[in-house]
Amino acid sequence: MPYLEIDNKKAYYSGNKNRKGIPLLFCHGSGGGHHHWHYQFKALPPPANPLAVDLPGHGRSEGAALDDISLYRDWIHRFSKALEIQNFILAGHSMGGAIALAYILQYPEEVRGLILVGTGARLRVLPAFLEELRQHNVPETMLEYLYAPDAPEELVNLGHREMENTDPAVYLADLTACDNFDIRENLHQIEVPGLIICGSEDRLTPVKYSRFLKEKLPQRRLEIIDGAGHMVMLEKPEAVNRAITQFVEEVLI
Ligand code: COA
Repeated sequence: MPYLEIDNKKAYYSGNKNRKGIPLLFCHGSGGGHHHWHYQFKALPPPANPLAVDLPGHGRSEGAALDDISLYRDWIHRFSKALEIQNFILAGHSMGGAIALAYILQYPEEVRGLILVGTGARLRVLPAFLEELRQHNVPETMLEYLYAPDAPEELVNLGHREMENTDPAVYLADLTACDNFDIRENLHQIEVPGLIICGSEDRLTPVKYSRFLKEKLPQRRLEIIDGAGHMVMLEKPEAVNRAITQFVEEVLI
């Protein structure tokens, strides 16, 4: 199993770093793991070489979840160095998108493209979510916000199980990191090509957040995926994979 050692702790990722192609490093969102990119892994054709990380305290990675996007940003930096990938495409969902945006602002030379899925330049969190998490409860309503109303039942049930099995402290750290994130004034500094993807029914990071990214990022394309919610890459993988494949080809030109 592919593990690296970061800060003397095991860090898990899926994929094969030695495979030829353009490394595409996928970063999951709050309380998630590499499995959130399951359908991208299965289907993205070469030259994309998908690699998906478990952030510290998530999935199979050791350590504790972090409560600041800049801490995750720098952890991913150490991770990419240990992985020995260069000139890669950085993809992030929700909190992972915030990490990707923070990364490109701090380390602009290292990334050749950004894929921003269900995310935004500011990620305020409903105070009621944070309040419940401080009481060590994962808010039930969060699940309702994750998927579009007609998302497959099986997917929603899986999401439910994942939430039940995730320590509320992990969500609290992640959502605190999101709540304090705001780089709206810095977007114009980003020069690399970007693909922005959002489900039309996303209630956690509504389409207006993605439209804002599109307006402010110099080289970007926006794909609004009809009928999908916040977990768009799991809900509508074919449409998401089509958009990513086309973007990877464009970045290569
Ligand atoms: N991109 C662009 N504009 C943004 C933005 C983003 N990512 N985030 C906020 N803004 C803008 C809003 O459009 C709004 O502008 P307006 O006054 O011109 O309409 C302004 O900033 C204030 O934002 P808003 O989100 O309405 O802040 P608020 O303090 O009034 O409300 C919440 C806070 C938490 C209720 C609200 O942000 C929300 O419902 N968030 C989604 C739920 C959630 O918890 N998401 C988790 C994200 S990980």
